[in-house]
Amino acid sequence: MILVSCDQNKKDQTKQSSNENFQMYSMSEMARLMENMAQEHKNVKTKVLANDSLGSIPDYYYDIHFATFTDESDNDEFFKKWADLYLAAEENLYKKQTVEAFDNAINVCLQCHQQKCGGPIPRIKKLFINSYE
Ligand code: HEC
Repeated sequence: MILVSCDQNKKDQTKQSSNENFQMYSMSEMARLMENMAQEHKNVKTKVLANDSLGSIPDYYYDIHFATFTDESDNDEFFKKWADLYLAAEENLYKKQTVEAFDNAINVCLQCHQQKCGGPIPRIKKLFINSYE
């Protein structure tokens, strides 16, 4: 069974195959990294809204340059450029710790996904504090 993580239909397929088996396909390093980043941003959002300190930027974010993909052809110039912009936006967020810097980082997630990986876009949009649309 081949499931492409960026596939719009993945959620439906996974639902059909049963809840506990969410990880029945083997996730690529990049997919796992992305899942962790998506989780992390829920926590970060709560902290930004509460004006809590964010601490320091998680080291594993930098694995975006090294993690292996489900489809290695995704690792192109576009991806590399946006991965750099993403890390710059995260560094800015951890420095400024503002709502604006948070939404700016999420916007970089969105920009890369609009080009690369449509499936998670609805999840990414939910992370915004103020919508970009
Ligand atoms: C530079 C481009 C880029 C950026 C920036 C980026 N992503 Fe991704 N994302 C991808 C690609 C490519 C994949 C597919 C990875 C794979 O399947 O190996 C992916 C996969 C995902 C997935 C699906 C993982 C799964 O279950 O298979 C989620 C969720 C996700 N990204 C959320 C995010 C969030 C949240 C951010 C920002 C915090 C973000 N992404 C930033 C390109 C990007």
